[in-house]
Amino acid sequence: MAAEMARLFSTGSRRVAPGTFLTHLLGGMTFIEQFADYVSRVEKGIDRFLQPADEHPPRLHEAMRYAIQGGGKRLRPVLALATAESFGASEESALSAAVALECVHTYSLVHDDLPCMDNDDLRRGRPTTHKAFDEATALLAGDALLTHSFVILTINYATQPALAHALCLELAAAAGSRRLIGGQMSDLLAEHRSNVTAAELDLIHFNKTAAMIESSLVMGALVGGASVSDIDLLRRVGRHIGLTFQIVDDILDATADTATLGKTAGKDAKADKTTYVKLHGIDKARQIAAKNTAKAVAAIATLPGDTTFLQTLISEMGSRAK
Ligand code: IPE
Ligand code: IPE
Ligand code: MG
Ligand code: MG
Ligand code: MG
Repeated sequence: MAAEMARLFSTGSRRVAPGTFLTHLLGGMTFIEQFADYVSRVEKGIDRFLQPADEHPPRLHEAMRYAIQGGGKRLRPVLALATAESFGASEESALSAAVALECVHTYSLVHDDLPCMDNDDLRRGRPTTHKAFDEATALLAGDALLTHSFVILTINYATQPALAHALCLELAAAAGSRRLIGGQMSDLLAEHRSNVTAAELDLIHFNKTAAMIESSLVMGALVGGASVSDIDLLRRVGRHIGLTFQIVDDILDATADTATLGKTAGKDAKADKTTYVKLHGIDKARQIAAKNTAKAVAAIATLPGDTTFLQTLISEMGSRAK
């Protein structure tokens, strides 16, 4: 399981031959097969809901597709689909929400990689969008992916206006200045500072990373018609998983190699970022990640539906950096 999950979570060779595992059977499929099935549905949805690459102006639409296709673990859309389905939603009903989440996430990566931000050359095992195209095109492709996510939501949930409104508000709030963008701002301001507190760093991670993971669960739950109290619980779960996810990302930046990550390893130390590794050290960072993962799994297990897949996924996300 560990080796296959490592492959699944590495960028270059994500796809796994079906039937590899006989353990973790869920509804007739192994966990790995189920994950691969979700990813395949997400990728078909991306292809369907994105503008064709040759649409005017083709350079922009090619760059959007370059950024979002051909790599990425697709964790946020998979979390959204699996959460929706745990509340009884049909396979198709959460797909637009899932693709909208991946559009916003991908835009955040395209901009995160720009020279004025983290200045990275490699993403998802390929040159970053500004390297494959140019900076202005990457900036605009990111802008367009962000905007298009709301087009996807408003068009595809038009017959359920209350749901469309709730999904748009959830995604806009997660992506806005109080969460994702605020976190990115604080992340940059925390570079080269030696007096960042643990609480400050938690707030950065909570905003720049946990916001979108929290919204993945919440948007899935909204599509599935979950109760207010179940949505509150999922927000709490999202915070635990989101914090863990960035802690693990910080650990992997310091411990894994570029080929496995599909992005440049060791860049946080070079940029003198404030990370969990810098502030707490690797061992303590691992302990905090494990504690948060356990809390998330315990909480999600109390939901009424079948959350077996989600529990396994959350555990695997938490143990990526072991
Ligand atoms: C990278 O996210 C940015 C962080 C929030 C750490 P992912 O690790 O989910 O990136 P992809 O989508 O798989 O490329
Ligand atoms: C970025 O965190 C999180 C985003 C909101 C994009 P990082 O800067 O650590 O992400 P990577 O390591 O470049 O993927
Ligand atoms: Mg960054
Ligand atoms: Mg970065
Ligand atoms: Mg990182």
